[in-house]
Amino acid sequence: MKMRARILGAALVSLLAAAVPAQASGEYWSEPNVRVDDRASLQRGAKLFVNYCMGCHSAQYHRWSHVANDLGIPDDVVQENFIWLTDELGQKFQVGELMEISMSEEYGDTVFGGMPPDLTLTARHRQEDWIYNFLHSFYLDKDATATGMNNAVLEGASMPHVMWDLQGLQKAVRDDDGQIVDFELVQEGSMSPREFDRAVNDIVTFMSYLGEPAQLERRHIGIWVMLFLFVFLLLAYLLKREYWKDVH
Ligand code: HEC
Repeated sequence: MKMRARILGAALVSLLAAAVPAQASGEYWSEPNVRVDDRASLQRGAKLFVNYCMGCHSAQYHRWSHVANDLGIPDDVVQENFIWLTDELGQKFQVGELMEISMSEEYGDTVFGGMPPDLTLTARHRQEDWIYNFLHSFYLDKDATATGMNNAVLEGASMPHVMWDLQGLQKAVRDDDGQIVDFELVQEGSMSPREFDRAVNDIVTFMSYLGEPAQLERRHIGIWVMLFLFVFLLLAYLLKREYWKDVH
C-alpha cells in the first residue's frame, strides 16, 4: 500500500513538473503575446529586426520579396527602407534575394567567438517566450563579458545588448540565494518599459512568422473553409425543403 502511494506520488510530481513550463530562472520571466495575424505588429517587428538584428543574424531561408508580400509591404518600400546591407562588392542586396548578411565567418569568429546563428527557425527551437525573455534580460555585469553586460537567460552570452538605446541599462536584483528575481533600470532608454515590451513582442512575432510562414496562410484558408461550410449548409437546407415539400 505504502509503495503504491509512493509511486502515485512520484507520478503526480512528474506530471506537475511537465505541466509547468521549463524556465531559465524564476520570477522575472514573463510571457509574450504573439499574434501573427496582427499585421501592424509583424511590420513593426520586421523593421526592428532588419535594423537591430540583421547586422549580425541572417534569415537566409527567406527571400525579401516573399516576406514583403506576406506582410503587405510593397517591394520598392522594402528595397528602399529595409535593405541597407551590401554584398562583398558593395552592392545593396536586391529584394529578390535571400535575407543574407555580409558578415564573414572569419569576422564572426574573431569578434564573437563564433558566427551569430541564423534566426529563421529560432522561434521554433528556442520557443517564443525564451526569445522574449532573452531580449529583456541583458544586465550590467562588468566582469562577465568584454561589453560589461551579461544575460540572465543565456549566461555569458557573446551577443551584445544591441537594444540598449531603446531599453536603457538595468542591473539584476537578486534574492538571498543569489538568484535573479528582477531587474532595476539604472539608465533610461528612449522607450518606456511598456514601449520596449511592445517592441520586443513585435520582434518575437516577426520571428514566429519567420519560423513558420504557413501560419498566415492557415488562417486565410480557415476563413474560406468556414464560408464554404456555410454556403453548403444553406444549399443542404434548401434541398431538404425541396424534398419534403410534397410529403406534407
Ligand atoms: C552585434 C551582433 C549581434 C546583433 C546585432 C544581434 N545579435 Fe543575437 N546573437 C549574437 C551572437 C554573437 C549570438 C550568440 C550568443 C552566444 O551563443 O553566446 C547571438 C545569439 C542570439 C540568440 C540565441 C540563438 C540561439 O539559438 O542560441 C537569439 C535568439 C538572438 N541572438 C536574437 C537576436 C535578435 C532578436 C537581435 C535583434 C534585436 C539580435 N540577436 C541582434 C550577436 C548579435
